Amino acid sequence: MIILSIETSCDETAVSIVEALGDFPTATYEIRGNALFSQIETHREFGGVFPSLAKREHALTLVPMLEEALRQANLDNRDHHDPFPEDISHIHELLFREPGLADNLLSFSDTHNTPAIDLIAVTAGPGLEPALWVGVNFAKALSHLWNTAVVSVNHMEGHVFASVFNGHSLAHVEFPALSLLISGAHTELILMKQWKQYEKIGQTRDDAVGEAFDKVARMLGLPYPGGPEIEKLAAQAREKKLHSKDLLGLELPRPMLTSPDYDFSFSGIKTAVRYAVEGKQLTEDERCAIAREFQDAVTQVLIGKTQRAVDAYGIQSLIIGGGVSASAHLGEMFTDFFNYHYPDLRLYIPEKGLTTDNSIMIALAGHAHADSALDAQQANTLIRADGNRSIADE
Ligand code: KG4
Ligand code: ZN
Repeated sequence: MIILSIETSCDETAVSIVEALGDFPTATYEIRGNALFSQIETHREFGGVFPSLAKREHALTLVPMLEEALRQANLDNRDHHDPFPEDISHIHELLFREPGLADNLLSFSDTHNTPAIDLIAVTAGPGLEPALWVGVNFAKALSHLWNTAVVSVNHMEGHVFASVFNGHSLAHVEFPALSLLISGAHTELILMKQWKQYEKIGQTRDDAVGEAFDKVARMLGLPYPGGPEIEKLAAQAREKKLHSKDLLGLELPRPMLTSPDYDFSFSGIKTAVRYAVEGKQLTEDERCAIAREFQDAVTQVLIGKTQRAVDAYGIQSLIIGGGVSASAHLGEMFTDFFNYHYPDLRLYIPEKGLTTDNSIMIALAGHAHADSALDAQQANTLIRADGNRSIADE
């Protein structure tokens, strides 16, 4: 089965072509094409992702990404053929809210034969709704042009699959498993008794971890996205043995660390940083020390709450996913802690390149749900972008 996958939930425009041999969950996968454009430079000057700008960029970039992915996969047959006139009007109807996309797609289809794609997988949520709709409508248009089935994919479920994917196949996960999903908009603990069964047992009550990283970075005068910037400063602080307690008398709180639940709260840590930096001219050393203390506070809370759930549910496998799992420090802390205290627990952290948003993970999740794919007509009426879609509903 050859899967074409589309991801536009936030500020990455990504299209992949993944060939699956065999059935989920024992299939092997070959990444035949993978094209990703990050809009980070566009959003940086706004200090965060600007939804209407993201939407416009996705509309401009999707066809080039599609062409690149097909070229890599050797599926870009370029025999000239004219699209049918009725296709043109329907494609314009489907894409009328996405400036330029219909024209781009029609000139693409004018010069390319229908590729041998068996399934289109598209992120339908959660994420920024205007951004999601571009991908969803594009998937519907392709489905109509190529007469190919579509499966709508949950972005957070994609992060789960990214974590257990070793580049060729999915890990042999032992259940019950626990997924800690940490990204720019989500922080949740998900209990999995089986593949594709998700029960949300805890989540943040205010900011997501990635969001807190981004906001604290901004307070320290660092660009968006803040996670990697904080990581650099914190690493310098560790090297120079700088502590915010020594330099500024600052110890950040570890909110809800001991509360008898699986929820998180990060806004208090963020506010404590704000009070500490407001109106001050910080030295470089002080900024590094604050970044370190912030990273430590967040990591300790995440480990503490995860451990509580691991104990309570007899967890066999711990799956960490989402953009914040790109943090090397966080990965080391989790690995050291759980390898030492829980030597039998299997720990999964995504490989580099699959931590932040990508479309390979959408192809994997799409393959797992291939049995619920819809034909072009059904997809047109039934698939909707949903910014708040929950993994617990999959
Ligand atoms: O999963 P993702 O790419 O997009 C969403 O679905 O939200 O996650 C993006 C988030 C951003 O908030 C970014 O600052 C954070 O992941 N992030 C990090 C690191 N790299 C990315 N946070 C902490 N440390 C990092 N090294
Ligand atoms: Zn994500």
